[in-house]
Amino acid sequence: MGESLTKKILRSHFVKGSMVPGEDIFIKIDQTLTHDINAVMTYLAFEQIGMDRIGVEKAVSYLDHNLLYIDFKTPDDHIYLQSAAKRFGAAVSRPGNGIMHAVQVGRFGRPGIISMGGDSHTPHGGAIGMLAIGVGGMDVATAMTGIPMRLTMPKVVKVYLTGSLNPGVNSKEVILQMLKIVSLKGGLGKVFEYVGPGAATLEVPQRTAITNMGAEMGATTSIFPADEQVRKFMRAQGREDEFVEMLPDEDAEYDEVIELNLSDLKPLIACHPQPDNVMPLSDCPKKEVRQVFIGSCTNASYADVARAALVFKGHHVHENVQCTCGISTRQNYKALLKDGYIDMLLDAGVRLLEISCGPCCAIGQTPPTKGVAVRTSNRNFKGRAGNPNAEIYLTSPESAAATAIMGTFATAEEVMGDQVKILGDVHEPELYDINDNMIIPELPPEEAREVPIVKGPNIAFLPIPEKPEDHLVCPVSLKGRDNISTDDITPASAELSSMRSNIPLMSRYCYMRYDPDFAERARKMGRSIIIAGENYGQGSSREHAAINPMYLGVKCVIAKNIARIHRGNLINHGIVPMYFEDKADYDRLDQEDILEIEGFTAQIPERRVLVKDVTKGISFYAVLDLSDEEVEIVLDGGQLRHLKKQLREMGVDTGARLKEIKVEA
Ligand code: F3S
Repeated sequence: MGESLTKKILRSHFVKGSMVPGEDIFIKIDQTLTHDINAVMTYLAFEQIGMDRIGVEKAVSYLDHNLLYIDFKTPDDHIYLQSAAKRFGAAVSRPGNGIMHAVQVGRFGRPGIISMGGDSHTPHGGAIGMLAIGVGGMDVATAMTGIPMRLTMPKVVKVYLTGSLNPGVNSKEVILQMLKIVSLKGGLGKVFEYVGPGAATLEVPQRTAITNMGAEMGATTSIFPADEQVRKFMRAQGREDEFVEMLPDEDAEYDEVIELNLSDLKPLIACHPQPDNVMPLSDCPKKEVRQVFIGSCTNASYADVARAALVFKGHHVHENVQCTCGISTRQNYKALLKDGYIDMLLDAGVRLLEISCGPCCAIGQTPPTKGVAVRTSNRNFKGRAGNPNAEIYLTSPESAAATAIMGTFATAEEVMGDQVKILGDVHEPELYDINDNMIIPELPPEEAREVPIVKGPNIAFLPIPEKPEDHLVCPVSLKGRDNISTDDITPASAELSSMRSNIPLMSRYCYMRYDPDFAERARKMGRSIIIAGENYGQGSSREHAAINPMYLGVKCVIAKNIARIHRGNLINHGIVPMYFEDKADYDRLDQEDILEIEGFTAQIPERRVLVKDVTKGISFYAVLDLSDEEVEIVLDGGQLRHLKKQLREMGVDTGARLKEIKVEA
């Protein structure tokens, strides 16, 4: 039997381990990417690691998420990140150049490589036949050292696409349909490989909407073959010379198969508050919509925005609706301007935003009280838009435009009638405007060594956890429900996101929208344990959802289930992730119960821990689903201590001399 594309790429990057699904594999990483509201911690960690220079072929630091300089904090962060990138040998994509994933796929990615990004939507890059994996910031810092990275060998799911999308139906419908089939955690431990004649009809930016939102299924990543569509895209990016055809073998063996006929798809909508809460848009009870956002890395490509503009042509945004548009890159913005689509948006009353993530991560455009918002982005968790009592619905750009016109959920066909067919004529440009003058290239090593790292008052320190205690006695600081997201743990907004470089400050807002008393309660408890339901830590990769609780003294999370990236972040930051052996035990525990674990450090390698509830006089078992290396990381007190030990054993020089400029307020 032949091999899937996923296995071919993993094999070509294999260093050690086992390629049996579920087992550990160590792989070489080619590229890394970070973004401004998480990367300060990543670069502070890289400073602590002590290496002189980044050890992957390309590292890019994107300044793209928070471009609202509401006070000194974010500009401080950007200056720090730019100086750290120069010092350690990373390129910088400056504010205004574009959203990380869209720029990375256009300017840096190439077929057959593996990238690791400190953002859960890194799988966006899979659209051009590369394996692009989202991880936490500490993992990116580790990858930046150049040492092989551990991955749980995934199962590979063949998604066989036939047919072609009808006009008015977007590739967003493909991934929403997949979410409906697979569900939020159905993709755990899997790579979704899209193949077949239907896949061949999809242009690269259409594919990115699918690979990007594969993150919502909990997947390791998603990938398309590097075929003629990828060649066309790379030619349009002036990089055809970097194209290599990468296809699965004709007789490739897969662990599962899903079939989808693109011609059968109709406009869909993901209803509040989960991206897998999907139904046909025409079946969704009509609601008065207050806000529409067409944008984000998911669905703000040239063709996405051009099609939305055509829906708007001759119409106006409904008087009850605020409609904003955030185009993914400067490159796409210029092409849309040249081709007259920006005019159409302005004529319709659409408000054009800065080129950034912005509203997608609650940085601006918060919906009103109890308001309904329609977005083309990828997440609709409670509070994701900055207002926990608002409702967010996810649709394609075509449906979002129609909704903005009608003031309630609508499809392009409802607005355009037969004319909807003209949407099928929109394609990506043959040649994009190629101008990398907003990318600051890496400095050569000799020059880089002289660059000082600039730290304003917002750049605090990276908290480093202690090793686990052998006899742990502490209360439950939180008993959480199912599907707690990292947005629940570390809420986002322009103000809160700008605090992510300052953990003592930010930790005060931990769980603020979920349980406003949590931070103070945990701080007073000193040491505590969190109890949670299914899919704990789903959503964004933000490692602050681990760092802040760790800083507040949380030692373990015992949950029914923990999302992949968050589980890794907990391990990296010294919080021991455990599962109820019997999920029914969750119901027996209460917040503030005192739990006791004797001989904890001896039980961790056994992957089974006896926990006593001293308050109730009962006991239960928690299990640890940890690889051998993860056991070591946990016992070492987190990834930073573990990595430094590893590098010392390897004889790597970790004594880099750093020059620092402290900027006092
Ligand atoms: Fe940015 Fe939202 Fe994408 S925060 S990277 S636009 S998921």
